[in-house]
Amino acid sequence: MILLLLSCRQTYDLDAEALRDPESCKDCHQTHYEQWEGSMHAYAGEDPVFRAMNARGQRETDGALGDFCVKCHAPVALALGLTEDGTNLDEVPDHLQGVTCAWCHLADEVVADHNAGLVWADDGVMRGGIAEPQETAAHASAWSPLHDRDSPESSAMCGSCHDIVLPDGFHLERTYAEWQGSLFNVDDATRQSCGHCHTRAGTGKAAIDGPSRRIHDHAMVGVDVALTAFPGIPEQEAAIQDELDFTLLATLCVLPIVAGSEVVLNLENVGGHSWPSGATHDRRAWAEVTAWKGDEVLLETGVVEEGVALTDTADPNRWDIFDLAYNAEGQPEHMFWSITETERRTLPVVTEDNWINHSITMRWPLPGEVPERVTAAVHIRPIGLDLLADLSDSGDLDLSTLTRLPPTFTLGETVLEWTGTVGSCVP
Ligand code: HEC
Ligand code: HEC
Ligand code: HEC
Ligand code: HEC
Ligand code: HEC
Repeated sequence: MILLLLSCRQTYDLDAEALRDPESCKDCHQTHYEQWEGSMHAYAGEDPVFRAMNARGQRETDGALGDFCVKCHAPVALALGLTEDGTNLDEVPDHLQGVTCAWCHLADEVVADHNAGLVWADDGVMRGGIAEPQETAAHASAWSPLHDRDSPESSAMCGSCHDIVLPDGFHLERTYAEWQGSLFNVDDATRQSCGHCHTRAGTGKAAIDGPSRRIHDHAMVGVDVALTAFPGIPEQEAAIQDELDFTLLATLCVLPIVAGSEVVLNLENVGGHSWPSGATHDRRAWAEVTAWKGDEVLLETGVVEEGVALTDTADPNRWDIFDLAYNAEGQPEHMFWSITETERRTLPVVTEDNWINHSITMRWPLPGEVPERVTAAVHIRPIGLDLLADLSDSGDLDLSTLTRLPPTFTLGETVLEWTGTVGSCVP
């Protein structure tokens, strides 16, 4: 009898359905729940910009887009057969949309380095980076190399969704590929995985009754923010600002030229992939530079008012730091499914080939002039207002449903003021 009982498979309090609901985790993993709840992972399925763009894509391709977008934005709903193309997400329960606890923690194999090449085991075993987890009646637990940021395989779990190859083969978004080819991924001793930068470690309890150990931040911020009412917006914005502040190193110089001077701005990306990365054709990042002699403005570029689209501001001198996308007719294009080419203008990540100098320099000549004061700053908006207008014009996005427009972040280390003599630099 005892033998029989021992050989029985242990059962846990949470069944398959309960395990798919983040609410079930809340009581024991409160910190993880709260951080995730305000993350872009939680927002991925309800994101109105995503919904609008997917709806337009399905219409414009006569449904050929199929499950392409929901594979990453609502993977659990797709796996359970609750959606085929994401156009019915309104009818799918909230907790089965987005990149949820269950999606990440029940994934057990990476089969492709792009387009959500993850196998979802859905076998009730919560995988994580804890080698000897405390037993719980709630669920089975196991260590997994895909979930441990110190193991070489872990970046592949994130990377499988953070690289997009379009149906026609064009490699549009390349965060994982950029990281793979960088100095952050050379060997086991020095590797800095996605998790080292994006799931910051602290000490605390992984579960309410568990021991104190190393735990990992689940807010996983980048640059994007919710545009509708959503938990934790102020915390998310503060975390984004912290990260952005140290992503670029800047040097501002005024150098002599034959007749006059030139303002020179040098930017070095110290992050783990290009800056910006991912949806680089949707981001709007740029440099603002102003040069004065007394009260006279000798140069002014990159001044963009809040609420005005960057691309609507005529400014031929502006340094734009995001990619331009084009369609097969060579026209500028916003929509994934029609993009066939991009012009890369992002700041590269450090690699074995460019490590001596991977910074990029922009020069603004001031013929016949020498400034007394020059200021510089780099700004980023997660999504272009022109893109939102495009989705609104096509009838797919109702702008009145947004509670705000994408904010403009200014990168701390790039805010510089020069008041020296020609030939000098700050900082
Ligand atoms: C009744 C409490 C309880 C509930 C409910 C619960 N867990 Fe856990 N979980 C624990 C305990 C205890 C541990 C072990 C913590 C430790 O060892 O520090 C754990 C560990 C984990 C781990 C780490 C596994 C490893 O080996 O690294 C993950 C991931 C996890 N839980 C996810 C979840 C998710 C997702 C949910 C909701 C679907 C959930 N848990 C619900 C108590 C719970
Ligand atoms: C050395 C640290 C570092 C590593 C390693 C790293 N990142 Fe980042 N990442 C950052 C910083 C800092 C930012 C925020 C600034 C920014 O926008 O680039 C960021 C931004 C992002 C963003 C927002 C996109 C954007 O516009 O820039 C995504 C998505 C992202 N990272 C995913 C990943 C993934 C996936 C990996 C692993 C393949 C990874 N990161 C590895 C530091 C890192
Ligand atoms: C985008 C994927 C992803 C999502 C979504 C996600 N996690 Fe995690 N989680 C991870 C990774 C990766 C680790 C392991 C980090 C490490 O050990 O390097 C982890 C670790 C954990 C741990 C172990 C303790 C720790 O901090 O290492 C718990 C508990 C946990 N997650 C619970 C949750 C809960 C609850 C949710 C949803 C509310 C959730 N996770 C959502 C990827 C995810
Ligand atoms: C199932 C696919 C999937 C997996 C696995 C995944 N992500 Fe994501 N991630 C997404 C999607 C989709 C979004 C964006 C949602 C949106 O903006 O609508 C996102 C957003 C992000 C962002 C914010 C990007 C921004 O623009 O601000 C970061 C940072 C990030 N993920 C890091 C990670 C890390 C680190 C891992 C691994 C631990 C990971 N992701 C695993 C799909 C995934
Ligand atoms: C391979 C996974 C994957 C696929 C497929 C995918 N996305 Fe995403 N999506 C992401 C990730 C990861 C982000 C986070 C931002 C980043 O990487 O820059 C994101 C962000 C977004 C955003 C946030 C705003 C922005 O542009 O930064 C929108 C909108 C979006 N995706 C729409 C779509 C649509 C529409 C499709 C289908 C045509 C799609 N996505 C297909 C992974 C994916």
